[in-house]
Amino acid sequence: MLIQTRRDGFHHLHSADITPPEFYANRRALLKTLATGVAGATLASWAGREALAQTVRAGKLAPLAAARSLLPGAITMEKSTAYADASSYNNFYEFGTDKADPAHNAHTLKTSPWTVEVEGLVKKPARYALEDLLRLAPMEERSYRLRCVEGWSMVIPWIGYSLSALIKRVEPLGNAKYIEFVTQADPKTMPFVGSRVLDWPYVEGLRMDEAMHPLTLLSFGMYGEVLPNQNGAPLRLVVPWKYGFKSAKTLVKIRFTERQPLTAWNHAAASEYGFYSNVNPEVDHPRWSQASERRIGEDGLFAKKRKTLMFNGYEAQVGQLYAGMDLKKLF
Ligand code: MTE
Repeated sequence: MLIQTRRDGFHHLHSADITPPEFYANRRALLKTLATGVAGATLASWAGREALAQTVRAGKLAPLAAARSLLPGAITMEKSTAYADASSYNNFYEFGTDKADPAHNAHTLKTSPWTVEVEGLVKKPARYALEDLLRLAPMEERSYRLRCVEGWSMVIPWIGYSLSALIKRVEPLGNAKYIEFVTQADPKTMPFVGSRVLDWPYVEGLRMDEAMHPLTLLSFGMYGEVLPNQNGAPLRLVVPWKYGFKSAKTLVKIRFTERQPLTAWNHAAASEYGFYSNVNPEVDHPRWSQASERRIGEDGLFAKKRKTLMFNGYEAQVGQLYAGMDLKKLF
């Protein structure tokens, strides 16, 4: 989701390690045929990602125990995306703009010691050590759909607890209407902080009722383990009914405010990225249709796209938060 128009229209040709071998054979043949000129360069980058996906496996990081969530809507019945894909096809611009860059580069991120500062309009501002946050509420496993504004989606079994558990702990004041989420921006360990892609740090925001919604997850892990760096270690937000960019990675500060925060993407391109950014198939992004999506890992070359659902399929749970709002204007 860069501001510049991307020409690598082929970056969706990413494969899963669960792809049947015959698909691989077909793709390799196609790769050979098309590997010339611009298509050649982009397909080469796709091939690189495919090779990377083959090397990334669950079972390498510390396990993180969690009970299956009982929250309505928290577990989709849809099949999880392969770990190799979820951890090698990432948007994490602090580590580069290509989908494979975070998996290649994020090993430099230093996640320990780690603290998160909670400040602003709360009765009990505090600086939490990661260890204390890990113990603050019982860990749940929740299988959420993640829909990126670029038109792809995944299903990821996240581990964490409702952000509301932390919010209640710090006792927001009556005039706290929004929460700003500030993420790590350390040029020493994050090679692309300082690049002109965004004004760093990466900042996101939610309205208080959105942040308090039980589906809004403070996540520390996925697939039974702690988060890999490229997915936002040691902790991140996951807001399943909003476009993926609202789910800020590597949180360091949570600030309660009266005014709507200026988010990094809204600041970079207000006409493209609104504050709300609810998944909405009826409101297209200027460069990408939002009507349908490609599920990563189901992408045989001619695979059919899926229809994108209002609020990413979480309308029953979150629709009432937006009653009476014009979602075309407040996109
Ligand atoms: N958080 C930070 N700090 N930096 C980023 O570049 N990218 C966002 C979001 N959180 C991003 C971020 C975008 S655009 C998406 S789609 C999701 O992370 C991707 O999360 P995933 O890589 O775990 O699938």
